[in-house]
Amino acid sequence: MKISMPVEIVGTGMAVPERVVTNKDFEARLDTNDEWIVKRTGIRERRWASPEIGSLTLATQASQRALEHAGMTADDIDLIIVATITPEHTLPTTSCELQAALGCNWCQAYDLVAACSGFVYAFGQGAQNVHLGTAKNALVVGVDTMSRIIDPEDRGTAILFGDAAAAVVIRKAQDPERGILAMRCGADGGRAKTIYIPAGGTAEPASQKTVDERLHYVRMQGREVYKFAVTQMQSLIHETLEDVGMTPDQLKLVIPHQSNLRIIESACEKLGLREEQVLINIDRYGNTSGASVAVGLHEARASGRFQQGDHILLVAFGAGLTWASALIRI
Ligand code: UT7
Repeated sequence: MKISMPVEIVGTGMAVPERVVTNKDFEARLDTNDEWIVKRTGIRERRWASPEIGSLTLATQASQRALEHAGMTADDIDLIIVATITPEHTLPTTSCELQAALGCNWCQAYDLVAACSGFVYAFGQGAQNVHLGTAKNALVVGVDTMSRIIDPEDRGTAILFGDAAAAVVIRKAQDPERGILAMRCGADGGRAKTIYIPAGGTAEPASQKTVDERLHYVRMQGREVYKFAVTQMQSLIHETLEDVGMTPDQLKLVIPHQSNLRIIESACEKLGLREEQVLINIDRYGNTSGASVAVGLHEARASGRFQQGDHILLVAFGAGLTWASALIRI
């Protein structure tokens, strides 16, 4: 949908755990190998948090870096949105814990749960708030500690996911031509069980039985999600551009959710996007779920892959199933 939301990204930051897990590390205990993983996913390594580090620590580090980059202090923030499916605790929200960790005032703070699409959904909400004036400076964070919810014995998921956080600070732009020009968010709950965690919620609370049966881990129908993702990513980019009458060659950069290199390449090739127009970092981090697009946005900004005036497009899909895109003029 075509919109006009003049906002600017004034700070970005990211954080990953120190521990690097390579494909070779899986070979000893899973029936898999480096060649299969690289060929089928593009992943070479990912970061996994040590036991004392969870989503709050990663989110705090990323947020502090984003604030520093923005030249702001915690007091300047009056809205915090954290996109995550792996909160520090089930209750309260990680955003409230983050508010305290950063030393912010009693600003509004909430978590947003839309899995791998979460950061793009949250970015839109942060932008809406600063646009409407219900917040001046919004801190939007994407964080997931996926290593805590994947089954280490399931080769279909264990090799895919990694841990990370990234944060952005958004405020109103003076130039009405800047900001979000188009946005599309959607969901298909009919396919909820293609990626889900069977137990731990109200449907089946945690018990000895659910742990014994490994029902507290992510279950994914990889092939089904793959087919959905390739078509969805392609049509989402196409339709978002169509909303404003733009063509793929006018984009400086697409920052896609890093779920599988083949999904990204296939969708982008069909649209005629050139290699330098697509941000790829899945080889280093794997699929970091809600952090994925946020990390891409930070790395692209930090390495100068876009400048003021450029058009970039964020695009994501994930469990729910959910999807989201945002076309931004920097
Ligand atoms: O961010 C959330 C959204 N999630 C995604 O986007 C994930 C989307 N799906 C995928 O990325 C891919 O489906 C996977 C990477 C998960 C799997 O790749 P695939 O090419 O779709 O493989 P497949 O599921 O069709 O399985 C092909 C074979 C199977 O063996 P058989 O039945 O042919 O004997 C699997 O058991 O590959 C086997 N396999 C593996 N082999 C070695 C599955 N995982 C592995 C593995 N190592 N890690």
